Amino acid sequence: MTTETISKVPAHVSLIMDGNGRWAKERGKERVQGHFEGVESVHACVQAAAKAGVKYLSIFAFSEENWNRPEAEVVSLMGLMVKAMAAYIDGMCEEGVRFVVLGNRARLGDELNAIIDSCMERTAHNDRLTFIIFISYSGKWDILQAAKKMALEMEENPERKQEILDMGVSGFDKYLVTAGIPDPDLIVRTSGENRLSNYLLWQGAYSEFLFVDTLWPDFREKEFNDALAEYAKRDRRYGKVK
Ligand code: FPP
Repeated sequence: MTTETISKVPAHVSLIMDGNGRWAKERGKERVQGHFEGVESVHACVQAAAKAGVKYLSIFAFSEENWNRPEAEVVSLMGLMVKAMAAYIDGMCEEGVRFVVLGNRARLGDELNAIIDSCMERTAHNDRLTFIIFISYSGKWDILQAAKKMALEMEENPERKQEILDMGVSGFDKYLVTAGIPDPDLIVRTSGENRLSNYLLWQGAYSEFLFVDTLWPDFREKEFNDALAEYAKRDRRYGKVK
């Protein structure tokens, strides 16, 4: 299906990239080759999202749990992210893409943090598509850091205690790292795994989920547009009766 025939375009699509290692293994290559190829899929999806009129595209690039992978793989993934950002920053500027990284940035190295800052600054005023990369992120970590921020705010502003205690669900949103970003309408996970793996636990409360067998390095424009077409068929009721 082409993007022209897609009637209902999600504002925010989020991708759980999975299967790079298996893609490499199937070809007798090192796991890192799967990650290299995976960056090409990221590029293809950013372009496809912009073309389709998606306003927010996010990807789960590295979880808090991924720090437990073999050190060599962690080092090469961090290096790959630095290289990918350096390679694509000019293109993102030209195509009006705002680049955002969210997660526990205190755990990232200086080189990665420096290039993230520079890419975020350079693209801050772009508004065609916001492209978010979650690095060193987990849903439970996000909810916990939000609760701590809220507790601290209460301690520092005792006069606001009641106002904070009366806060509703949307009030809590602003303490999460995704403050200001709409919740994902569609979360796609590749490689045949049917799990959320501690990803957007709060924000994904009413997301549509799509699990596909395609391994991440093979997930390109066609697969992205197929996911949009599947979303267009879904009937979202948010717990109500239609
Ligand atoms: C999952 O496959 C993939 C990852 C944990 C890392 C993906 C990260 C990138 C492609 C870097 C993107 C960064 C930028 C800046 C564009 P897996 O290793 O879990 O695969 P497996 O389940 O087959 O072992």
